Amino acid sequence: MKIAILPGDGIGPEIVAQALKVLDVLRRDGLPIETEQAPIGGAGYDAAGDPLPEATLSLARAADAVLLGAVGGPQYDSLDRPLRPERGLLRIRKELNLFANLRPALLYPELASASTLKPDVVAGLDLMIVRELTGDVYFGQPRGIEVRDGERVGFNTMIYSESEIRRVARVAFDIAMKRGKRLCSVEKANVLECSELWREVVIEVARDYPEVELSHMYVDNAAMQLVRNPKQFDVIVTGNLFGDILSDEASMLSGSIGMLPSASLDANNKGLYEPIHGSAPDIAGRDLANPLATILSLAMMFKYTFNDPATADRIENAVKTVIAQGYRTGDIWTEGCRRVSCSQMGDAVVAAM
Ligand code: IPM
Ligand code: MG
Repeated sequence: MKIAILPGDGIGPEIVAQALKVLDVLRRDGLPIETEQAPIGGAGYDAAGDPLPEATLSLARAADAVLLGAVGGPQYDSLDRPLRPERGLLRIRKELNLFANLRPALLYPELASASTLKPDVVAGLDLMIVRELTGDVYFGQPRGIEVRDGERVGFNTMIYSESEIRRVARVAFDIAMKRGKRLCSVEKANVLECSELWREVVIEVARDYPEVELSHMYVDNAAMQLVRNPKQFDVIVTGNLFGDILSDEASMLSGSIGMLPSASLDANNKGLYEPIHGSAPDIAGRDLANPLATILSLAMMFKYTFNDPATADRIENAVKTVIAQGYRTGDIWTEGCRRVSCSQMGDAVVAAM
């Protein structure tokens, strides 16, 4: 089990350090885990002048799975666009062909009061967003800022090919088959041709999955339904941009963005695993961050890449235990709970394992 470890920027190194403690436990218990670290994002720029240094990309290519912390920080915001940390992340997704991004939103019952929504709206929440990750307006050409008729215009291209839609739709249908067999495809087919094609292709793929109940929803309505009645959803499949937005929204249903892991998979289930939150420069280096999304990302790694659901369960159960024991980092803390640091939370998970 070769795992490339890319801590990145901001709170990245702190949260990844907690996940490494979990890997140490698993290694001690006999799993053949090998890890090697490399810089990405701002750290890649600092080390090699590139947010995705060549050596980091080769390490990631050679690995079975990649664990990533987070990228970005204010000190890099003034760099030329291709040198910015986010570009490193977008490039590694593209280079490794990680087209299927799985973002579960699950509410631990004890955290219902940490959500900004009413507890009865979110209690029992368990949904999965499947976000296409290597296409759409994120990568479409042409793109740029140029002068037309004496003023600057900015432009991007929203584009999906049939094959791109089909492969991510298949992943979503497969996941729906293993869950509640309900899939909602989200787009904006009332306005965008790109979405019109998306809907047509998803309907074609649905013929191979007669057991899955397929529905369609416009993205504006989906954004509203997610806060109105999120439990109506089982699996959502959507494009890159809409998925970026809806997954941040869905994260708040589960109490904190600090709780949500993600998996980005290629066609062979090689994956990059990362928390969906960012690098949180405001609290970086202060041992305050919530490491649970990163630790839960490891659980997803064992489930999807290493096909080891028992280890995935072991990690998830340890997280459930520490939540039940009342351990809380600042982002999920409520009156009466035990407030702990990032590293104390990591230690608590290790103890629970
Ligand atoms: C995410 C992030 C990234 C994205 C940024 C950092 C480029 O928001 O993983 O959701 O937009 O995909
Ligand atoms: Mg995002």
